[in-house]
Amino acid sequence: MSLLKLFSFHLIFTVSVFTLAESANEYFTTRWSRCIYSSPDLSDMVYIDSFYFNKYLFTQFNSTLGKYVGFSEYGMRNAEYWNNDTSILQGERGDVDAFCKHNAQISDSAVRSKTVKPKVKLSSVTRAGGRHPAVLMFSAYEFYPQHIKVSWLRDGKLMTSEVTSTMEMADGDWYYQIHSELEYSPKSGEKISCMVEHASFSKPMIYDWDPSPPEAERNKIAIGASGLVLGIVLAAAGLIYYKKKSAGRILVPN
Ligand SMILES: *[C@@H]1O[C@H](CO)[C@@H](O)[C@H](O)[C@H]1NC(C)=O
Ligand SMILES: *[C@@H]1O[C@H](CO)[C@@H](O)[C@H](O)[C@H]1NC(C)=O
Repeated sequence: MSLLKLFSFHLIFTVSVFTLAESANEYFTTRWSRCIYSSPDLSDMVYIDSFYFNKYLFTQFNSTLGKYVGFSEYGMRNAEYWNNDTSILQGERGDVDAFCKHNAQISDSAVRSKTVKPKVKLSSVTRAGGRHPAVLMFSAYEFYPQHIKVSWLRDGKLMTSEVTSTMEMADGDWYYQIHSELEYSPKSGEKISCMVEHASFSKPMIYDWDPSPPEAERNKIAIGASGLVLGIVLAAAGLIYYKKKSAGRILVPN
């Protein structure tokens, strides 16, 4: 089997596919090389090199086992043959470092270091005719990369049935936004929170819902009240000025 690697990196795994169309009958031999890891220091790297014939997996190298495993009579014979060849085996084992970690470092520095924290908003929504009396909306804007997990907590416990919708959307400029809605029946003394997991955070972020009016609302009231006081003061000052002026005019004869 001729071996050709085409590198195509994803955040979690890498895919290397070699497809061979044997003839007009279209038999396909495919090789899928995956580098699977989640730790930033790449210490948990596992290399899985799979060989398929017409989508049927017949032989697979697994770096945890350090050898090939066969999945059919031919696949098992093939595994035995390759396991018997020290140079093939050494090559595959060496690819954990030479292929997986090498490329993962490149892709991590290109992607992971470019993460952008979401700008979040947690607000209450008025909805007529809903099954539950209260609706909360959590929105996260302008984050990168796309993958994100938003969950709702009631007193620290995961809520599942009440979450009505979650949509992830591409802004079209490499940033993403997500909106998650929670319809629920409020109980007194409970704490509702929204938990967000994203590559830009080192740990899950928890945002607590504060049912008192948001600061923006309080500010609006304060600005309105100040405006009213200022208006009264100006009106009074204007009136006094007018009174004085008209009084002065009478005193000065033509
Ligand atoms: C690789 O081998 C390990 C140890 O046997 C096993 O836990 C793991 O599931 C295997 N991976 C795959 C993709 O088969
Ligand atoms: C394994 O290698 C040895 C030595 O090269 C050879 O004699 C033997 O036939 C091989 N076995 C298989 C199953 O290929």
